[in-house]
Amino acid sequence: GNGGGGGGDAGNYPEQNITFVVPFSAGGPTDTVTRMIAEPMAAKLGAKIVVQNVEGAGGTVGAGEVARAEPDGYTVLMHHIGMSTAPALYKNLGYKPLEDFETVGLVTEVPMTIVARKDFPPATLPDLVTHVKANANKVTLANAGVGAASHLCGLLFQHAVGVKLQEVPYKGTGPALTDLVGGQVDFMCDQTTNTSGQITAGEIKAYAVTTPERVKSLPDLPTTTEAGLTQLQVSVWHGLYVPADTPQQVVDKLSEALKVALADQAVIDQMAKLGTAPVPAEDATPQAHRAHLQEQLGAWAKIIADAGVEAS
Ligand code: MLT
Repeated sequence: GNGGGGGGDAGNYPEQNITFVVPFSAGGPTDTVTRMIAEPMAAKLGAKIVVQNVEGAGGTVGAGEVARAEPDGYTVLMHHIGMSTAPALYKNLGYKPLEDFETVGLVTEVPMTIVARKDFPPATLPDLVTHVKANANKVTLANAGVGAASHLCGLLFQHAVGVKLQEVPYKGTGPALTDLVGGQVDFMCDQTTNTSGQITAGEIKAYAVTTPERVKSLPDLPTTTEAGLTQLQVSVWHGLYVPADTPQQVVDKLSEALKVALADQAVIDQMAKLGTAPVPAEDATPQAHRAHLQEQLGAWAKIIADAGVEAS
């Protein structure tokens, strides 16, 4: 439910540049997805979209900034599954996902891959499991901060295997992957939108995808289920948000533009190359997005509690 709020005339929106906040580093998966849809959305809206990376604390810094922004449609947040996991991971989260934002629409759902530096000894996922159990005090696991998708996948991995590894946090997959390619960390779990290129180029080693089905763009990579780690299932849904009390007309214009962008053949092709696809048009709506967020908040609170992880 929206009231008025914000300045300007919602009927004339947009009348100035729109900022899309990405709560992770440039060059990472969230940034990649945002930049893919920004151009066709800008064309539909008739306004320039400026992408701004507000990184830190697993996406919660950027999300908090948008929660407190003017509710006028000129500050938009792209966030992923982390929107639904942060309340279970942070005691003093500065925002409430369902109360402080209007959902605009879902965008895509991205498979994850378990990847390692290319000279990391294990050759297969079962080898990796054996190796980390035997070397739990030495192996390093990269992530993009508490609440990042990579962090979540790492938690599920450790829980499934029954180990506690040394985690190395970054401000996004961008810098984490740079270190993985450089051999400074051993392994991580992250989205095909950013690992596909390095996997195909042989710059990193890949063990499995975390979805029930194999990914078309990485056909040789087994699923976690095929490789024997059935408990490790996760894919990373993304959605667009504006601050609560943004006028409904503005939310609807953004949602319409999102739908147009997701139907753009260039976007579909680019996503397919990176192992993903746009959501169906009916999910690129405020209602479907809100329902999904609500369901995911409950589901992840339970999974995180069951994994024995406490909020910090
Ligand atoms: C990113 O854009 O850097 C990622 O989505 C981080 C993550 O959630 O692992």
